[in-house]
Amino acid sequence: TRVAVLFGGRSAEHDVSRLSAANVMKAIDRTRHEIVPIAVTRSGKWLLTRDEIPEGDLETADGIEVALLPGGGGRLVAVSGADIAPVDVLFPVLHGPFGEDGSVQGYAEVADIAYVGCGVFASAAAMDKDMAKRLLRDAGIAVARSVTLRRGDTHSFQEIAGVLGLPFFAKPARQGSSFGVSKVDDRDGYQDAVDTALRYDDKALIEEFIEGREIECAVLERADGTITVSLPGEIIPAGKHGFYTYEAKYIDADGAVVKAPADVPAATADRAREMARQAFQALGCESMARVDFFLRPDGQLLLNEVNTIPGFTNISMYAKALAAGGISYEEVVETVIAHALA
Ligand code: DAL
Ligand code: MG
Repeated sequence: TRVAVLFGGRSAEHDVSRLSAANVMKAIDRTRHEIVPIAVTRSGKWLLTRDEIPEGDLETADGIEVALLPGGGGRLVAVSGADIAPVDVLFPVLHGPFGEDGSVQGYAEVADIAYVGCGVFASAAAMDKDMAKRLLRDAGIAVARSVTLRRGDTHSFQEIAGVLGLPFFAKPARQGSSFGVSKVDDRDGYQDAVDTALRYDDKALIEEFIEGREIECAVLERADGTITVSLPGEIIPAGKHGFYTYEAKYIDADGAVVKAPADVPAATADRAREMARQAFQALGCESMARVDFFLRPDGQLLLNEVNTIPGFTNISMYAKALAAGGISYEEVVETVIAHALA
């Protein structure tokens, strides 16, 4: 089969996506699949590139600008008119808006091509932390308390601190890799934190600070519908980062330790796995997702977020958590492709 791997993209996580895609391509079984690399530039163009992951700015990468034909069943057309063989499945290795949020999934539906990962609704629901929380709460899953702010809303620092206590976090509603996330310790940092979050989205989430550990479960669904939930892994922040920031994730090699499986009591691991499965179902997910939690010192678990296209970088938890349970990177990638084609 011809697997079109999409990478880059219009979101702030463009560079993270390129790191993820490099690993996904490495893990694809070349005896079964042919990789069709499609670079999505920061401006949103699709380029069928000569190199699998070109260096430098994708806008000027060596490639042919292409589009998927509506109803074309995977027919790719070159803007220049050149002939291109159709593809069998899209593998969007795109993080954040315009890739993980249902938009590319909708484009694939219109084009009538199979694609890896969650469908339109689950992608959109999981990407929007405000909407996701409503659905999770409705399913009886504990989440951190938060206040949703739309651009133009006025909520004073006192009001927020009165409801959520201090410190608290300000986050864009639809964003990943901690872009636009700030911790607010006092009145001075408040307006800046809100403005920063609203630079990335027109909706922000102000969320209570949860004292505790960060643990994450990988969920993988097979083509026959059976679901595997990994044991939780743990992100152990290290060094100077106050929380798991973008720098701690991808820039500072010692920014955090990713440990799988996490050193938690068996009962906690069981509960996390059960909650991850419930969250996957509550949001209507299919194929894959990584479910992130806060674990309080008293053992309570709060669901933080669901990532429908989790990171596949060298430091990413999704594949590590599954590998700890004996499912190799290659098997994960083959499973999600098989699920898409089923
Ligand atoms: N948004 C990043 C890629 C993650 O959740 O892993
Ligand atoms: Mg997370």
